[in-house]
Amino acid sequence: MSAKILLDATRPGATISRHIYGHFAEHLGRCIYGGLFVGKDSNIPNVNGMRTDVVEALKKIKIPVLRWPGGCFADEYHWEDGIGENRKRMVNTNWGGVVEDNSFGTHEFMELCEQLGCEAYICGNVGSGTVREMSEWVEYLNSDSDSTTCQRRWANGRKEPWGVKFWGVGNENWGCGGNMRAEYYADEYRRFQTMCRSYGANRLYKIAGGPNDADFHWMEVLMQRCKPMMDGVSLHKYTVPKTWEDKGSATEFDGDLYLTTLRKAYDMERVVSGHETIMDRYDPERKVGLIVDEWGCWHNVEPGTNPGFLYQQNTMRDAMVAALSLDIFNRHAARVTMTNIAQTVNVLQSMVLTEGDEMVLTPTYHVYDLYTPHMDAALLPCSVQSPALTGEVQQLTATASQKDGVTTLTVTNLSAVDGCEVEIDAVGLSLTGAEGRILTGEVHDMNTFEDKEKVTIKAFDGIEATEKGLKLTLPACSVVTLTLRG
Ligand code: AHR
Repeated sequence: MSAKILLDATRPGATISRHIYGHFAEHLGRCIYGGLFVGKDSNIPNVNGMRTDVVEALKKIKIPVLRWPGGCFADEYHWEDGIGENRKRMVNTNWGGVVEDNSFGTHEFMELCEQLGCEAYICGNVGSGTVREMSEWVEYLNSDSDSTTCQRRWANGRKEPWGVKFWGVGNENWGCGGNMRAEYYADEYRRFQTMCRSYGANRLYKIAGGPNDADFHWMEVLMQRCKPMMDGVSLHKYTVPKTWEDKGSATEFDGDLYLTTLRKAYDMERVVSGHETIMDRYDPERKVGLIVDEWGCWHNVEPGTNPGFLYQQNTMRDAMVAALSLDIFNRHAARVTMTNIAQTVNVLQSMVLTEGDEMVLTPTYHVYDLYTPHMDAALLPCSVQSPALTGEVQQLTATASQKDGVTTLTVTNLSAVDGCEVEIDAVGLSLTGAEGRILTGEVHDMNTFEDKEKVTIKAFDGIEATEKGLKLTLPACSVVTLTLRG
């Protein structure tokens, strides 16, 4: 098998926002409790209750933004239950019916973001909340006044406002967030967002609860009725290998199901393009961002775990889906300004799995590590010619970008069985070599608590400079980052 990649360093395009590499943490299973937050009194090393190992791991992949508190949980969450002393205990009806003690609330989330060095993206409650409640939450977070609401913040230990920028007005309001029609939600959005004020120099970036997958009607209605009042619209689209009733095992799958998984993941291209076409009609200047704030592989839960906790393992198949999806988002960087893979720790396609005081980094984590050079870089045109794999999916997928004079190419060989010889050429660069880093393994490979480093990034040599550019052979099921010289 052989392939050609031609990138053009003379025509830098849109900036790939670092927020495309964003994350999502919901009050669901062991994502927050046990995964990110263990409390100050835990034996697990922590700083103010946040697990040190997980925080350090996420900092290494330069986590740019974290969405919280849900998900479906957001439309049941009342922020005042999560501040101060004597916090209310509630039933988490969406996720396992467990009691949520609200010990992780606004102050803890903002502390976590500070430790991670990332921006906060908070999703407010439309489904069961009030306009006043949402409006006062923004005031509590962002106002520098001495209003009674701000004095409560001071009393709870925080004098300075945090200046949260990204604000979601509800989650999945077509489903768990209220089962609304698009037309009804559009009116609710207009009302709620009116009362979410910007304070001081901080301008709130308001994100409307957008469509499920290919619900183009929802997008049309929002763009038609709310466009001047929105900075972003969310989109949720998961990759479910089989069906919603039986999604398939995270670890056991055959070659056909692997290809089906890739085909379904690649459907992101059709769905993003479809929404983009509608958005372009109403917003040709591309002021409104498409925020894919939930995506990733959704498999059956690991046998023996709580079905409401959505705990799944993560193999090289998930890594391939991550690379394929990130390349789609990068190509649409002019419209897609943020995405948040679901979810950061112990839930769905996570970066990190934990058990007690132990932590494992997933293959997906390593893909995020390999892609960090694309953050805030200029997208370069990049044509890839490689054999067809399944449907519209080619064997290779790639992203090229440039930042501070450094040109980076990430290339993924999606084939589970075939290696691929690749020739790389670049307009505007005389390629003389490249530094390489690679993630590769058999498609079922994963990291476990018994074997934490089965899949990990290694140095990649074997890059040959030829008269025409570079030549290399990519093993089956691999992602490589090349820092190009020339
Ligand atoms: O990520 C899990 C759930 O998936 C979220 O709570 C919800 O928004 C979506 O349906």
